[in-house]
Amino acid sequence: MSADEKVAVITGAASGIGWALAQTFARARYAVCVVDLDAETAKKRAGELNGNHEGYGCDVSDEGQVERTFAAVQTRYGRLDVLVNNAGIVGSQEPSISQDMVYFDRITKVIINGTFLCSRAAFHPMAAQKSGAIVNVGSIAGLTGLPRRNAYGAAKAGVHSLTRSLATEWAQHGIRVNAVAPGYVATPMVQGLVDQGKVDSARLCRRIPMARLGTPEDIADPVLFLASDAARYVTGVTLSVDGGWAAFGDAGNASEQ
Ligand SMILES: NC(=O)c1ccc[n+]([C@@H]2O[C@H](COP(=O)([O-])OP(=O)(O)OC[C@H]3O[C@@H](n4cnc5c(N)ncnc54)[C@H](O)[C@@H]3O)[C@@H](O)[C@H]2O)c1
Repeated sequence: MSADEKVAVITGAASGIGWALAQTFARARYAVCVVDLDAETAKKRAGELNGNHEGYGCDVSDEGQVERTFAAVQTRYGRLDVLVNNAGIVGSQEPSISQDMVYFDRITKVIINGTFLCSRAAFHPMAAQKSGAIVNVGSIAGLTGLPRRNAYGAAKAGVHSLTRSLATEWAQHGIRVNAVAPGYVATPMVQGLVDQGKVDSARLCRRIPMARLGTPEDIADPVLFLASDAARYVTGVTLSVDGGWAAFGDAGNASEQ
């Protein structure tokens, strides 16, 4: 590892937005730690990046696994510059009255507990270096009300809140904490909802001023910006990356389809 090579941990990096993030950070010359529940794919993905990258199997909602993973990263690289808290699961789309607490707890554990546990584990190496950047992946679901998305929306609103509280506490240690709030992005997560008939992509596109779903790369580039020195005076913000979804408040369609 060269003396100036920075290290980025990206959670949920085996698929979708996380995989685009891993490729984007690798192109920006970071050593990328591909962290995912799916250990086998995480290791395979790290190999595909073809460089000084490593794959780790880890459930971000499990305190012991998170601590062990960040210790392994420290042993392997001896530093940590960027953490992207991207791992997430989609919520039940059932009517609220049918939603059970097992599902509710799992979603909040992965999204809120996972973001907190990984951020806390990243604090020690970043504070020791007196510099670091954390970028959390929130959602439009945490900014607006989406019917039936109770646990998911509440968890993402929690992520936006954690972003602000950690940013204000850790600025004194040289650690910036920001978030992005993506709109609908064409990933396996959203494709699964389309396949189940729970999301109508043509209808969604009419609600988006820019008239298309996002791509994983549309999200990865703003995350790289927030993690970079170009955003050195930015902390505590949640940046909407949604083709104008959150800005639109008019009646009817936002675009012609
Ligand atoms: N796709 C969208 O439209 C959209 C919109 C807004 C926000 N987001 C958020 O972006 C993030 C990525 O979503 P995606 O669409 O790429 O999903 P995805 O399902 O394609 O990928 C999610 C990845 O996270 C991993 N993961 C799940 N639970 C985990 C856990 N407990 N520990 C570690 N890894 C775990 C999965 O194995 C998978 O590789 C999520 O936080 C999601 O909520 C997605």
